[in-house]
Amino acid sequence: MMADAFVSRKLALVTGGCRNLGLEISRALLSCGHQVIATTRDARTFTELGDTLSKIDVIQADVSTEEGVDRTFEYIRGKDLPIGILVNNASSFPRGPLLSLDVKEFRHAYDSTVMSAFMCIKKAVPLMKVVGWGRVINIGMAGADNVRGYRDVAAHASAKTALSVLTLSLAAELEGTGLTVNMVNPGPIERAGLTSKERERLSSISPAGRLTRSGDIVGQVIEMVQTDINGTLSTVL
Ligand SMILES: NC(=O)c1ccc[n+]([C@@H]2O[C@H](COP(=O)([O-])OP(=O)(O)OC[C@H]3O[C@@H](n4cnc5c(N)ncnc54)[C@H](OP(=O)(O)O)[C@@H]3O)[C@@H](O)[C@H]2O)c1
Repeated sequence: MMADAFVSRKLALVTGGCRNLGLEISRALLSCGHQVIATTRDARTFTELGDTLSKIDVIQADVSTEEGVDRTFEYIRGKDLPIGILVNNASSFPRGPLLSLDVKEFRHAYDSTVMSAFMCIKKAVPLMKVVGWGRVINIGMAGADNVRGYRDVAAHASAKTALSVLTLSLAAELEGTGLTVNMVNPGPIERAGLTSKERERLSSISPAGRLTRSGDIVGQVIEMVQTDINGTLSTVL
């Protein structure tokens, strides 16, 4: 159901919003008329993309750390608009059998995926509550709505499954407040630069047997901004 045929201009934060899918989400929100702040850890991305992305407000911050999240929201506080949209997109992807991962890698999967989302939510939701409107959209992965085991991506997949539980729990807590919380769970994403071998491997592990178009994922994110649907885990294949 459409909450508003036209959702007026909001301030949107996209974590890891300066490259790949995050950048496409940032651009789509911008083209819907929103003001977009995107985080990156990378000083090079920050300076090089600063110009290209001149309409996207880029902040150099590591949202897997409390300091990075604090700094991001300090920056947001200086803006004219209150935050209305939070897209938790940042996530690291350590690969390998579970027991081959060291503690730091495993912890980082949770810090960048679950803790970053939790810390941004903790800061953003009280600000959204003041105006009685808000959208939290967490980016997961296909399968994160279903508990199962994975080879070679267990840290990442278990963090995304935890993010599903966080999404549904927060959605229940915020029901009826004008704020919604949803999750978009993409299959392996089609992108330039993949070798044919990588393409074949990724297609073979995708539930759809093919790669997912980023435009479809972005479309789902935009729909979650524009409607008042709450508490969904939406797979995009
Ligand atoms: N690619 C796929 O096939 C696929 C499939 C299913 C789901 N997804 C999910 O879709 C989202 C976007 O995927 P993508 O492939 O576009 O991701 P990506 O480029 O690998 O990473 C997404 C962003 O996360 C940030 N990030 C990575 N590691 C981080 C860390 N340790 N701490 C803080 N930030 C970190 C990066 O920002 P900076 O490096 O600029 O700081 C990056 O822009 C992710 O949540 C991913 O899990 C991807």
